[in-house]
Amino acid sequence: MASQTLREARKYEEASEKLIKEENRPSFHLSTRTGWMNDPNGFSYYKGEYHLFYQYYPYDVHWGPMHWGHATSKDLLHWTYLPAALAPDEFYDMDGCFSGNAVELPDGRQLLMYTGVVKERQKNGGVSEVQTQCLAIGNGLDYEKYEKNPVLDEHDLPEGGSRFDFRDPKIWRKKDGTYCCIVGNRSSDGSGQILMFTSPNGFEWKYKKVLCANNNRFGLMWECPDFFKLDGKWVLLTSPQDMMPQGFEYHNGNGTLCLIGNFDEETDSFTEECSQSIDYGIDFYAAQTVLSPDGRRIMIGWMQNWDTCSLRTRDQQWYGQMSLPRELSIKNGRLYQWPIRELENMRSGKTVYENVVFTDIIRLDGIKGRKIDMEIELFPIDGEELYRKFAIRFAQNEKYYTSLSFRPRESILKIDRKFSGSRRAIIHQRRNLVKSENGRLKFRMILDRFSVEVFVNNGENVMTATMYTDLAADGISFFVDGKIGMNITKYEL
Ligand code: FRU
Repeated sequence: MASQTLREARKYEEASEKLIKEENRPSFHLSTRTGWMNDPNGFSYYKGEYHLFYQYYPYDVHWGPMHWGHATSKDLLHWTYLPAALAPDEFYDMDGCFSGNAVELPDGRQLLMYTGVVKERQKNGGVSEVQTQCLAIGNGLDYEKYEKNPVLDEHDLPEGGSRFDFRDPKIWRKKDGTYCCIVGNRSSDGSGQILMFTSPNGFEWKYKKVLCANNNRFGLMWECPDFFKLDGKWVLLTSPQDMMPQGFEYHNGNGTLCLIGNFDEETDSFTEECSQSIDYGIDFYAAQTVLSPDGRRIMIGWMQNWDTCSLRTRDQQWYGQMSLPRELSIKNGRLYQWPIRELENMRSGKTVYENVVFTDIIRLDGIKGRKIDMEIELFPIDGEELYRKFAIRFAQNEKYYTSLSFRPRESILKIDRKFSGSRRAIIHQRRNLVKSENGRLKFRMILDRFSVEVFVNNGENVMTATMYTDLAADGISFFVDGKIGMNITKYEL
């Protein structure tokens, strides 16, 4: 039986979602049913459809005591909201049901593992949040919290592990029927570590080891880990806080990290081989993956960043959306991402331009819109000096635009939303070093009203950003300093 707190949230969301017009939300990216959304949670395939839960505060467009919102989909693009799944209503989670994951039990029930948060007054007068791992069992609609919660607390931590930074479990079932989970934690060196725990049945848990230690290399605390096998390698995804830039690879603040390596399943040892950002844009965090029934590893992230949450409109009725679901693969030691192939079923109204050669600025008939899927190839012109800069401006009218620009000599691709209508002094630009030879570059960009996701060189680099520009700004124009050639294939979505 749902608690009073959960029933209230369910009643509230049902009434208040009606106040948000469909056309004022993203069309195929999942946005919050109402109020606030952050991390994806419990991304899973259960009883014939995908389930996606999310960090949720229904009552305001700002973060508050965390609930779990819930939605399902058959193709990860058309979503149905279900009633909120969890509310902060127990002594061990009364200040929030933080991020976590889901797994199916052999008897067909779904097990959610999440972080329970309780505020504790400290000797110095301040307040810290104690974090433990908890379970809830359900049928895809209603969930019952486990009577023995929490199942992991400070007594299960290795020496020096902080009980205040111990969150975001990722759980999976192994081939032998036992369970494993990994959880983000802060170690005595002040930075993050990923802890591994094991369980015979999903309910009784034991500490196993440190799967991977940050050792102050990539930011401090590591949030929202995920760990899986992909193309013969093992991949650890995490979202580090308090990052510092390393060249063009990582940026300041909350970032994303992908470690690729090998995992010895006998000894549970992970050996890192290479590292990279997951996303090189501005708004992507807390990624989670699911394995689709046909064997694809699909990732989704919160399409925002803690450091830029003040970018919003004054009358915004919802805040928070997920990225596109992205199919993952590994090529030459790099993580590649590509929009989930189901998106191609949503395409209509194809417009093609080949060998458009231009100087200065052009607009092209049929090339505009805020819900589009567009592939562009840039190339230099034989016998001409290499162009100095190319830019595409979109979500554009007389007043506003967001741009993606490329300088072939430096091989830098830049996203810039300075002129998107923002009135805040936050990060509006990000630059990314991409692979290109002699001014050739290929990218695919997806717009869904309030966001742009750019997949460069078949998914070798991805840049994501939100922009809350008035939807009437739907123009697209092209600029070049020099002379350039371009092929375009564009669809409406
Ligand atoms: C990451 C995060 C998680 C936490 C959740 C709280 O964005 O800080 O570590 O579980 O958000 O909403």
